[in-house]
Parts: sequence; C-alpha cells; structure tokens
Amino acid sequence: MLKFKGSIKISGDKSISHRALIISAMAIGKTKITNLLESEDVISTLKILRELGIKIIKENNHWIVFGNGTNGFIEPNRSLDCGNSGTTARLMIGAVSSNPISCSFVGDSSLSKRSMSRVTKYLEKMGAQIHITKKDYLPLIISGSEKLLPMEHKMHKASAQIKSAIILAALNVHGKTTIIEKTQTRDHSERLLKFLKVDLKIKKLKNNSKKIELNGPYEIKSKNIEVASDPSSASFFVVGALIVPKSRIILKNILLNPSRLEFIKILKSMGGNIKVKKTKNISGEDVGNIEVKHSKLKGVNISSSRSAFLIDEYPILSIAASQARGKTVMKGLSELRHKESDRVISISYNLRKIGINVKIIKDDLSIEGKTLNIKNKIKIKTFNDHRIAMSFSILNTLFDGKLKIDNKKCISISYPDFEKHLNYLLVNNDG
Ligand code: S3P
Repeated sequence: MLKFKGSIKISGDKSISHRALIISAMAIGKTKITNLLESEDVISTLKILRELGIKIIKENNHWIVFGNGTNGFIEPNRSLDCGNSGTTARLMIGAVSSNPISCSFVGDSSLSKRSMSRVTKYLEKMGAQIHITKKDYLPLIISGSEKLLPMEHKMHKASAQIKSAIILAALNVHGKTTIIEKTQTRDHSERLLKFLKVDLKIKKLKNNSKKIELNGPYEIKSKNIEVASDPSSASFFVVGALIVPKSRIILKNILLNPSRLEFIKILKSMGGNIKVKKTKNISGEDVGNIEVKHSKLKGVNISSSRSAFLIDEYPILSIAASQARGKTVMKGLSELRHKESDRVISISYNLRKIGINVKIIKDDLSIEGKTLNIKNKIKIKTFNDHRIAMSFSILNTLFDGKLKIDNKKCISISYPDFEKHLNYLLVNNDG
C-alpha cells in the first residue's frame, strides 16, 4: 500500500494571486510577483487586466505588472471572460466600477449560475450603472464612474469576495467608504493594501464584527509581491497524510493567515497530529511549515460560526470525517451551496455512492465515519468542481485507484500541479 511521505512546496495561494495581480495593476509603476499561482482562475484575472490595458509579462519564473493607478483601466474592446472564477468576476466588477468605462462580463456555464447581485447591489448604491441580463447572473454590463459615492456598507453575507469588491471600488472613490463585516472573512485584500502602505483603518468591533475605513482616492506606489503557498491546496495532502497509515509529510512555505487555518484546528480536534511552525512574513502575510503524521481521527461537531473560515475546506474535511470514528456534523453550510457546484449535494452524492451514511438537514451535513473495503470500481461525479475532484483523489489513495473520477481536468482551476505533487508525495510503504 502507498503512504504519503516527504516534503514539498505547494503552489501559490489563489486568493492572494488574484489580489496581487489586480492591486499591482491599480498601483503606479512596476511590480514583480513571485510564486504567482498559474491556475485557470488566476489566468482569467490576468487576461482581463490585459484587456483593460494593463501590460503584464512573464520573465523567467516571475511576472511583471505595469500598473496604471486606481483610475487607469481603459475601456476593453471585447467582453471580459471570467471563465469559472467567481473571485475574478466579483473582484474585477468592483475594481472597474470606479473607473469611467463600460465593460461586459461573461463566464462559463457554472459561473453563469452564481449570484452577482450580491456584489452589484452595493456598487449600484454607490452609483455604478449595472445591467444584469439574466436575473442574478452573468453576462452583465457595467458602466463605472469616477464619481461613485462614499458610503457606509453593512455586509449581510460573510463573503471576502463581496468585501473585496467594495474595497477595490473604494480605492478610486473620493471620500470615506466604510465597510462593516458582521462575520469576519479572509482579509488578504486588507493585508496586501497595508503592505503597499495604503492607509486603510481596521477596527474590531463588538460581537466579533469588523469595521474597515478607506479614504480615497489613493495613489498606490508599486512594491514587489511574493505570494505565499496555498493552505487550501495544502489541505488535501494534510488530510491524505492523516488518513493513510504510516504517512508523515512536511508542507513548506504555507500561508498561515488565521482566516485560512481553521481547518487545521478542526483536524486537530479530530485527533490529527499536525504541527505548524512559522518561518517568516512575506508581503504582509505569515508563512511557515506544516508537519502531518498519520492519526486515528474521531468525529466532531463543527458550528456554523466557523463556516466562513472553512468555506473551501469542507469537501476535504468531509473526506476526513468519512474516515473518522463516529459522526461529524457540519452546521450552517448555506454558502457552500453557491460555489463551483452545490457542494452540500456533490459531497453527499459521492460519499453515499461509496457507502458512507450522510444526512442533509437543511444546510447541515452529518457524516458517519466507516471503514470501507471497496472491491469494484465506483464512478465519482465531480460536478466539474475542482475541490470535489481533489478531495476524492485523496480518498482514492486508500482504495488502490478503485474510485474513477469523472473529470480531473477541472483541477487546473485552482491547482494545476496537484497530480504531480500527489505522485511525488505518494511512495510505496517500503520506500
Ligand atoms: C475567495 C473567497 C471565498 C472562497 C473563494 C475565494 C476570495 O469566497 O470560497 O474560493 O479570494 O475572496 P466567499 O468569500 O465569497 O465565500
């Protein structure tokens, strides 16, 4: 049987890669970006920025972005194609809204079923003119303006994409924009802007909410950016090493932002032997190494208050739960229904297919762990969702390849090197 062994540097973080490109395009001057994730989603953002007149070139192993300022986008000649990427769509709609240009945004069939009004309703209040062609979905046409209104926004959904869209718009709004986040979400936009010396004010309020204040318009001076490695991509191998006997791995250079490491806390509470060691700070974010050893896991209850910090890791946490002793209950997964697939459905459909007892009660998921012995091939339906494909590829290491993943190509959305890294870390037990 195979086990996970050795050490590896994971690819760049997806959220930070999008922001590194967009924010350096909105800075003045040249930015060198290293360890940029070259996945399909990030390339969608890169191509859109080029359509908006930003020069971006690759030199050896890094990228150079020639920023035009917060008011520097030029009107594109064709539709801006966001592909499968919700982050591209939401963040870029925000970024162009305070520039006096018209743009039309399109996406693939999955993205064209994901809500855009969750972002556009804030931008419309500020004065951007937006026409959504199909109720809530792409394609949409936006006419931006340099005269958007400075306002206070109370966020009702816990979404870093919505928050970041407003932040990016506010960079070219004259006056004070305030955002109140009731539930905190990943804060890479705020950290990267602070690293670039943008004076935005952040204050923790009562009940764990957060206030962000921007006072635009800003002139951002470019500064080189190094992207930390993606903890959400690392999470697949963390769970792999936990569930496969005799495994021990070290994952290097991983982003240690607390808004992204909640899955480690959960896995530790399940009994996982995981050690995290900070090594340095790069471009405003802590990074370090994560060491994982095979462990016997037990089921846990995960409350809805933690869901914003676990949002991309529920698929792989479900795999851990399926291999744990007892029941795991994950509560408050309503946002999980609005990702690349309805992940409450895609997780439960596939776990049930391999013989795991799963219950869905409204937006809660309950998974009964079980030792399985799979003899015949089972087809896994990815719903063209990269995180479902990677999660079940990890579970497959326990079953000698008996799970047949229907679409592995979609993995390139977030982690083109996944298979290569998986094959590198998997060795024979005598190895
Ligand atoms: C992201 C935020 C999350 C996450 C997505 C990337 C980002 O979405 O699921 O993969 O980069 O801001 P929401 O914050 O909208 O839930």
